[in-house]
Amino acid sequence: MNFGKLLSYEKDGNLVRFHFEKMDGRIEVITDNILNVFAGFVSDAHRSKAIEGNKAAAAKFSVKEEEGAVSVSTAAVTAKVFDGFLVDFYRADGTVLCRDYRGERTPIVRASEEMKKLLEAEGHAAEEEGDGGFAVCKQMEGDEAFYGLGDKTGFLNKRGYEYVMWNTDDPAPQMDNFKSLYKSIPFFITLRSDAVFGLFFDNPYRTVFDMGKESDAYYHYGAQNGNLDYYLIAGNSMPEVIGGYTYLTGTTPLPQKWTLGYQQCRWSYMSREEVEGVAKKMRECGIPCDAIHLDIDYMDGYRVFTWNPDRFGQAEEMIAGLQKDGFKIVTIMDPGVKRDPGYPVYDTGVEKGYFATTPAGEVYVNAVWPGDAVYPDFGNQEVRDWWGQNQKFLLDKGVRGVWNDMNEPASFRGELPQDVVFTDEDEKADHARMHNLYGHNMAKATYRGLRELDGRRPFVITRACYAGTQKYSTAWTGDNHSIWAHLQMAIPQLCNLGLSGMAFVGTDVGGFGSDCTKELLCRWVEVGCFSPLFRNHSAMGTRYQEPWRFDGETIEIYRKAVELRYHLIPYYYDLFFQGEKTGMPIMRPLVLHYEKDRTARSLNSEFMVGDRLLAAPVVNQGEREKMVYLPAGKWYDYWTGEEMEGGRYILRDAPLDLCPLYVKAGTILPVWQKQRYVNEIDNDSTLFLEVFPGEGQWDHFQDNGEDFTYRDGAYNQYRCSLDADNVLRVECVHNGYEKKYGRVNVRCMGRTAEAVLENGSCRILF
Ligand code: NOJ
Repeated sequence: MNFGKLLSYEKDGNLVRFHFEKMDGRIEVITDNILNVFAGFVSDAHRSKAIEGNKAAAAKFSVKEEEGAVSVSTAAVTAKVFDGFLVDFYRADGTVLCRDYRGERTPIVRASEEMKKLLEAEGHAAEEEGDGGFAVCKQMEGDEAFYGLGDKTGFLNKRGYEYVMWNTDDPAPQMDNFKSLYKSIPFFITLRSDAVFGLFFDNPYRTVFDMGKESDAYYHYGAQNGNLDYYLIAGNSMPEVIGGYTYLTGTTPLPQKWTLGYQQCRWSYMSREEVEGVAKKMRECGIPCDAIHLDIDYMDGYRVFTWNPDRFGQAEEMIAGLQKDGFKIVTIMDPGVKRDPGYPVYDTGVEKGYFATTPAGEVYVNAVWPGDAVYPDFGNQEVRDWWGQNQKFLLDKGVRGVWNDMNEPASFRGELPQDVVFTDEDEKADHARMHNLYGHNMAKATYRGLRELDGRRPFVITRACYAGTQKYSTAWTGDNHSIWAHLQMAIPQLCNLGLSGMAFVGTDVGGFGSDCTKELLCRWVEVGCFSPLFRNHSAMGTRYQEPWRFDGETIEIYRKAVELRYHLIPYYYDLFFQGEKTGMPIMRPLVLHYEKDRTARSLNSEFMVGDRLLAAPVVNQGEREKMVYLPAGKWYDYWTGEEMEGGRYILRDAPLDLCPLYVKAGTILPVWQKQRYVNEIDNDSTLFLEVFPGEGQWDHFQDNGEDFTYRDGAYNQYRCSLDADNVLRVECVHNGYEKKYGRVNVRCMGRTAEAVLENGSCRILF
């Protein structure tokens, strides 16, 4: 980037425009904590797909000239702008957040040209250097740890690694040397002992993030094309930074309650009989379950918005029958439309110009499951509306959730050329620009369609994402394998997705590819039961992976984990209720709540659910004991009630049926009684609480669990507080939902007490 000397600047509303010798740049004040750095290399506007609406609040700021720089200061943060559009950020107290790197970069020395050819001949591609177009290089100030970046492989702390944002469907077993997976979320949080902040590089092109791999002196992020457009998000803590990022890109909306239940999937259940058989077996085994997913074989010849009449005839009847027994049906939906003249979805799309084209204007054809297929142009509002309305086909059959797959977009005949023509709202745009937005726009189309047609909170699952997709969809991490390395990876991967705004996420429990073993499945369900999206899925040709495919002990262990999940659903639901406001994830790395604790920074095999529960699952084959790190404070062993002092590692017995689980002192957990599916029994008469001695407070929410009326106040909010003398008070602080709890039942360390709620309040001594 060559801006040259700073010549002049002026204030323009919430912008400060800088005129350099060769180009202009600007700093935009969004809020006290959020500043945007922008240079319009290709357009003067943000054209963001992640950020919707104008987020600029009327934050006060001042502009001053000082020491060869111009500073822009809000109450919380200062940006100093220098020649060359170098920008340094400081907190109001003067602490450095980050500064542009002024030294020479020291690229990693790679193979010579001649050696590269030899390597290629051997089938090894030589590593390529990162960026291309332009890069922002920030100085490493000290002990930076990096978190976020979406669904990358590897460990929690991303320092020392390089990643590429280019939505990728690579079926090979994902290892920590993978640079990109299905999602591109160009946001990371930097944590140092003296500072924390977020950086969101809102550029949808292929971007590269080098988090100190090339050199320990700096880290950099760059793009091959597009604008320099990044947000510095300050805050006093990681939760505040997440609050800033989700203020910009949106939070995860409260889901329908049943979607927090267990879901069973397989590529594919091939017939109505098979699906009904799976449902029957679930109930026989006593394993709670709320949904069965239908993979691509429910369609007729893999044509989207069709139904296979032979294997899945009388779909409505099948779905209604399953629904009576508590099972909801979720169907897969791929973007690829079969090239098949006479098939209405294809014909309409061609006629209306709804598919991506070649630069010459021909409909672009590649291949996915149905063979030759064409790609809906989701960047076009009209196409999104059309796709949204098409969901009616599924809703009319009784389908309750739509699982968007293959939307990177995947293509079996090589990647789509960079110049395939799509639409970016009001203008044409090439594949290079729209690729990372494809899944996002498909999810948006699906969400909007379902919302309009159904009125219930849409349940959408997507594989590909961009920043901000959380507003429209949950996500799963794609095609993992039934290997221990992937169970291990699941924890940091889901935690980093949560830190990147995606609160409702999960992995394929048991692993998708390869054959699962009994032990791996048992350990995986002990992680899966805590992940927000809880679904077992496996690939065609692999060993069947439902729990009864193994042995009686597996069924017992599986049931125990799934029952624990159902027990905790009210707690999960409360976390989602809060998360819609705060942007906080459900599954959290310990560092999110214990920033100052250096051990917490790199814990890869334990995590928190909310800020009260700490799960430390076994993720190594053969292990029956687990080293658990408990941060400072008083904790209780969930299973035994034993009180423990934190700030240390402990060694916990962990037989195959047990995931070590700890609860903070002073915790009030809203829980459910046993049920085989969500709301099989009446959960609205008695509020069940499980408490762990100490002082604490919890807000519990009650609503219909289904539609959007809670946004108009149709919910009850019960403030529960616990004091040191074992007195629990419950008070209804918001009363907007017609059903109300009549009683409160408290369990504490094996003792129970119950009280009647009068005018929404009660006091219980236990
Ligand atoms: C790829 C998806 O990741 C997987 O979950 C699915 O089963 C297959 N496509 C087949 O639809």
